Amino acid sequence: MAKSKTQFVCQNCGTVHNRWAGKCDGCGEWNTIIEDDQMGGIGGGPGKVPKKGRAVALTTLSGETEEAPRIFTGISELDRATGGGFVRGSAVLVGGDPGIGKSTLLMQAAAALSRRGHRIIYVSGEEAVAQVRLRAQRLDAADTEVLLAAETNVEDILATIGEGKRPDLVIIDSIQTLWSDTADSAPGTVTQVRTGVQAMIRFAKQTGAAMVLVGHVTKEGQIAGPRVVEHMVDAVLYFEGDRGHHYRILRTVKNRFGPTDEIGVFEMSDKGLREVTNPSELFLGERNSKSPGAAVFAGMEGTRPVLVEVQALVAPTSLGTPRRAVVGWDSSRLSMILAVLEAHCGVKLGQHDVYLNVAGGYRITEPAADLAVASALVSSLAGLALPADCVYFGEISLSGAVRPVSQTAQRLKEAEKLGFAGAMLPATSAEVPKGANGRWVTIEDLPDLVSRIAGSAAKLRQTPEDD
Ligand code: TYD
Ligand code: MG
Repeated sequence: MAKSKTQFVCQNCGTVHNRWAGKCDGCGEWNTIIEDDQMGGIGGGPGKVPKKGRAVALTTLSGETEEAPRIFTGISELDRATGGGFVRGSAVLVGGDPGIGKSTLLMQAAAALSRRGHRIIYVSGEEAVAQVRLRAQRLDAADTEVLLAAETNVEDILATIGEGKRPDLVIIDSIQTLWSDTADSAPGTVTQVRTGVQAMIRFAKQTGAAMVLVGHVTKEGQIAGPRVVEHMVDAVLYFEGDRGHHYRILRTVKNRFGPTDEIGVFEMSDKGLREVTNPSELFLGERNSKSPGAAVFAGMEGTRPVLVEVQALVAPTSLGTPRRAVVGWDSSRLSMILAVLEAHCGVKLGQHDVYLNVAGGYRITEPAADLAVASALVSSLAGLALPADCVYFGEISLSGAVRPVSQTAQRLKEAEKLGFAGAMLPATSAEVPKGANGRWVTIEDLPDLVSRIAGSAAKLRQTPEDD
């Protein structure tokens, strides 16, 4: 046995430190570093005496390949996020905040698969059998043949799922409750979580069962987060959403067997998760198109167009430093747009509070939203409502130019499908398909946009003080 050496591991990102520190250099989180024993630890393996290696046959890159065998759930939003169903012999990590609905989603998936004749084992480490049964009843899944176990010990789980007929899919809920006899540290630490996940992945590879691992996103770092095992699994899905809203997004961030950037959209109801096949309708549902400060952004999520409303409120400030508050978008990006509006369009916002909100609790990550944000800001400042049937997209550069973005055609197609006859988009877009009744307006630069919205940019320059 090698000499035991103490190390300190960040429970958020897994960075190994030689000594304890309050803040992790790797991820910048505080109070996430704890002492960990290296022996069964990362790269430590089961701690056996090394044996002599065995030569394996080398092969070439070309040769017979076959499509990854998949099992479909029939829940199309889930199948879409996994790239066409769970792949046999692979491990998928489903991460998300506690209470977001991971167990609900996977229970529904288990029931759907079981109805299709697959052998599914659901291992719950967090809830007792009675609790899982209650949820299954609520989800109308109680009549299915999903096999259930409440267990947390890795060796016991392996013995259980390895017994009898091979399962098609195993769900482990959650990885943070797994603990193995071979690792010395406490359950929930990086070492335990990685050891447990490693064992489950090995089971999947050996038997050809698909393995779904649930991981809670942790903020305080008391237990290891799902990020510490992302590199080990074949696919990583994150289940996101705002507790205050009903919709949930299943986002693919890594997939060895399919595209990333895909999303599945669900709505949480009192009978579990409901698929949302047209997310744009969900986000535009409660729209009040007559008020100033609202612009519809034609966005993309992977290959999927999503229309969402951007709302801005610009109001004279009573504070020395005006407030800037953003929900659902990047606040530094907002500062940039405000600076460009000020520098190139003479729109003065130094004496105004600016609030920006993306409707429905949705989060935009695309720079293509710049034009919609700028439109909403100008509209609110001018007190002029934007045309209700117009969408906006385009990236704004520091020079004030509006830059083209990808997938123009898909964005316009979705807008047209939902009854938007107009669009303001970048001038240099390669292919702008002519809509049947589309009024696509290409915007050269930001001053162009401002003058189109306000009629004359001069009107906007007046602030309450200097007129
Ligand atoms: P859960 O799946 O337990 O979350 P996770 O496994 O990610 O921690 O979901 C918990 C929340 O979902 C809980 O607040 C109750 C709500 N919920 C519904 O609204 N409808 C339902 O049918 C179910 C089963 C749960
Ligand atoms: Mg759960």
